[in-house]
Amino acid sequence: MEKLMIEGGYPLEGTVQISGAKNSAVALIPATILAESTVTIEGLPNISDVRILRDLLEEIGGEAYLDENQSLTVNPENMIPMPLPSGKVKKLRASYYLMGAMLGRFKKAVIGLPGGCNLGPRPIDQHIKGFEALGAKVTNEQGAIYLRADELVGARIYLDVVSVGATINIMLAAVRAKGQTIIENAAKEPEIIDVATLLTSMGARIKGAGTDVIRIDGVEKMHGCRHSIIPDRIEAGTYMILAASMGQQVLLDNVIPLHLESLIAKLREMGVFIETKDDQVLVYRGKDPLKSVDIKTLVYPGFPTDLQQPFTSLLTSSEGTSIVTDTIYSARFKHIDELRRMGANVKVEGRSAIINGPAKLEGAKVKASDLRAGAALVVAGLMAEGVTEISGLEHIDRGYESLVEKLKGLGAKVWRENMDVEEMEEMKNS
Ligand code: EPU
Repeated sequence: MEKLMIEGGYPLEGTVQISGAKNSAVALIPATILAESTVTIEGLPNISDVRILRDLLEEIGGEAYLDENQSLTVNPENMIPMPLPSGKVKKLRASYYLMGAMLGRFKKAVIGLPGGCNLGPRPIDQHIKGFEALGAKVTNEQGAIYLRADELVGARIYLDVVSVGATINIMLAAVRAKGQTIIENAAKEPEIIDVATLLTSMGARIKGAGTDVIRIDGVEKMHGCRHSIIPDRIEAGTYMILAASMGQQVLLDNVIPLHLESLIAKLREMGVFIETKDDQVLVYRGKDPLKSVDIKTLVYPGFPTDLQQPFTSLLTSSEGTSIVTDTIYSARFKHIDELRRMGANVKVEGRSAIINGPAKLEGAKVKASDLRAGAALVVAGLMAEGVTEISGLEHIDRGYESLVEKLKGLGAKVWRENMDVEEMEEMKNS
């Protein structure tokens, strides 16, 4: 087991290459199940979630080869609807996309309940409501979800909650249903468009992805294709926040600036300078202290909940009081206690964190409880005086490709270290 060590206080400067989008990747990989010939996805991020999903495709009889450039070639011809009761499925939340994809292709699936970051309650009732509307019988038996259908028939499905996962999962099942499916109150995140683009290249007929009404005309068969993944807007956003906290001039390469408009607006409001080009963003700070701002996380194109935690760390260094409200996840505040340990003046009231700044952060031993909490602690560690030790590195590795190498490339003093026996015991018991 390793921990992340950061010696804070060094300015960041240079260029950082943004990887393919994790939250697209975890849907694109299961989507390959729906084809009946070889699909290649180019530019996947080199993260553990991708490798676990590749292994899961192999568990159901697929051939899945990930090359050194992170292109995944999947031959789904010999896949069979093997039950996937737990094990690897529990390691990531997005394993729920195997339900929609296997249901679409085989009309049945058995999948353990998904794991992933603990952000408070994360029900999948809307996914199930969608599968049932398409004609599937869904039961929960001893911690695994059983899905069975004689046939899938298109339906009109209104989502009670705007959900990225439910929108994609229903799309995956509906592309091979009979007739038309209409998803109303659909989520509009760029990852949904990316998945719809892949499915369309595989022969699906989808209109309206990226709007709140998606129409899908089912097709009988789907075929192989090549697809290039979109850049990771959350990884890009994290580096923009890092650049705003400690950056002299940081250039992000391989970005779609349109996907980051809410963050760009808020950073500018704080006094950060941002220049956007076609697929690049330049971030730098002036001499003046950063101003406090309030943010409220919302569904896309609102401020992303996935950037709320790292943004909170940045706000500890701004002047005045900021209020951060998370309307998507009620309990996405596990990073706050750790930030307080480092000297931040933050308290949580209901769904909001109230931050009084500027605080002088000091290095401490802290724990990443989930992926973006980890990113928040990296931001804090780079700003802090002295050395910060972050445990729970496995969460960060799920979503950030080559974090240490990318930060070092910007001039940060950061390295990985093995935990000693005592620290590992502490981790296990906490
Ligand atoms: N919700 C329900 N019922 C459902 C589905 C969702 O009540 O059936 C609720 C959730 O509890 C939450 C809200 O609806 O309060 C939105 O959840 P959504 O389904 O949109 O989230 P998700 O699809 O499970 C994806 C990302 C998350 C990101 C959210 C919101 C993936 C694999 N995960 O999760 O990313 O926070 O959308 O944008 O795409 C991360 O990258 O760190 C991460 C957690």
